[in-house]
Amino acid sequence: MTHLKPETMGQQFGRRSWAEPWKIKMVEPLRMISREERERALVEAGYNTFLLRSDDVYIDLLTDSGTSAMSDRQWAGMMLGDEAYAGSRNFYHLEGAVQRHYGFRHVLPTHQGRGAEHLISQVAIKPGQFVPGNMYFTTTRLHQELAGGQFVDVIIDEAHDPQDLHPFKGDVDLAKLGALIERVGAGQIAYVSLAGTVNMAGGQPVSMANLRALRELCISHGIRLFLDATRLVENAFFIQEQEAGFAERSIAEIVLEFCSYADGAWMSAKKDNLVNIGGWLAVNDDELFEELRNLIVVYEGLHTYGGLAGRDMEALAIGIEESMQDDHVRSRIGQVRYLGELLTDWGIPIVQPVGGHAIFLDARRFYAHLVQDEFPAQTLAAELYLDSGIRSMERGIASAGRDAKTGDHNRPKLELTRLTIPRRVYTQAHMDVVAESVKAVHDERESTRGLRMTYEPKYLRFFQARFERL
Ligand SMILES: Cc1ncc(COP(=O)(O)O)c(C=O)c1O
Repeated sequence: MTHLKPETMGQQFGRRSWAEPWKIKMVEPLRMISREERERALVEAGYNTFLLRSDDVYIDLLTDSGTSAMSDRQWAGMMLGDEAYAGSRNFYHLEGAVQRHYGFRHVLPTHQGRGAEHLISQVAIKPGQFVPGNMYFTTTRLHQELAGGQFVDVIIDEAHDPQDLHPFKGDVDLAKLGALIERVGAGQIAYVSLAGTVNMAGGQPVSMANLRALRELCISHGIRLFLDATRLVENAFFIQEQEAGFAERSIAEIVLEFCSYADGAWMSAKKDNLVNIGGWLAVNDDELFEELRNLIVVYEGLHTYGGLAGRDMEALAIGIEESMQDDHVRSRIGQVRYLGELLTDWGIPIVQPVGGHAIFLDARRFYAHLVQDEFPAQTLAAELYLDSGIRSMERGIASAGRDAKTGDHNRPKLELTRLTIPRRVYTQAHMDVVAESVKAVHDERESTRGLRMTYEPKYLRFFQARFERL
């Protein structure tokens, strides 16, 4: 019998291994139910992974939103909640952390990201105006539309090609934006909506050079620029690693410079900021802030809590500090890349380059025999769950919804299934199990049938839609 010489993963890839900059203090048991039980659970959930019970899931890669493990310091902070209705001391800690790390003057807490999206959309968009952005995000675009705006995609073409290796696929195509300004006039543009990294493109980053040029274009036309800062820390990692002149700058410094080119930002703190719930909205302009501060009491709560408990704001203030640490970001993205390396090595089609928060399986190439109207990415999410109890998410035709004017499906070029890695939650062994399951489903791909939608809700249909097998 021959024995293979054991090698660490680092050795297999010809480099030294890295490790997480933390150790585990508390564990949450996982359970895998049987294949028959998974089949029953999936039918009950209408083949929609959002409708599964978490107790029926083994490794949960549905989302990185609100699924992070908090640190001992954050949990200690939870005990220091000042639950006063107004003027909680935890609010001032949060305000200080946002000002220090993101650089904006005025800060409002919100219950989560879409609370902030709602407020900025209502205040900064006049009905009939256009909102150019670097690819749409589901909730962001819907709030822009509900405020009477029309989203226009101005991301570079490379972002729509899962195999293009452009290092900054989140960049704005300034010629596309310039053409829009020319066509409709600067006065008809509410603001530019810039996300870093770009979730729907595969967690792809925006370069600092592109942002600087974008800022100049905006200033020359008097157009405001707002950021979706949800994964800006991860975006900063790519700038540090791949953009000339940033290798010696810290993540915190890069985030601060990035924000200095914007008029404000909204945040789903459930991602980068390492909390289970929370968000914020921050702007520089006094008058704009005045309006937002008034509107927030209608929808979220008083401007010093905005839908959050004092303890939530304390955990968030600490989470912001921790999220900026270079070794944390390196290991977070290192884990995503580790899974990406395994899958790439095995010839599984994924979005390249690997982005910040997830591996995006390219369902078009995975199930080349399925047409897009048979929901290949939704099918792949269902098959992965059946194989191993791993929960992923569709990011394709179901997520893209319908065209507001024609009522037909939006048919995005990208038809993806997202394996989203929660921060500080799973180990390398979990990633191995995930990779092996993807490979098993890939091996069976040719005999897999697609899905038909049997129930379609009006808003953000991917959350609650139901399907059945064709
Ligand atoms: C890029 C981006 N923006 C905004 C949001 C909305 O944030 P929330 O889920 O906290 O409402 C998300 C959440 O998934 C997101 O990924």
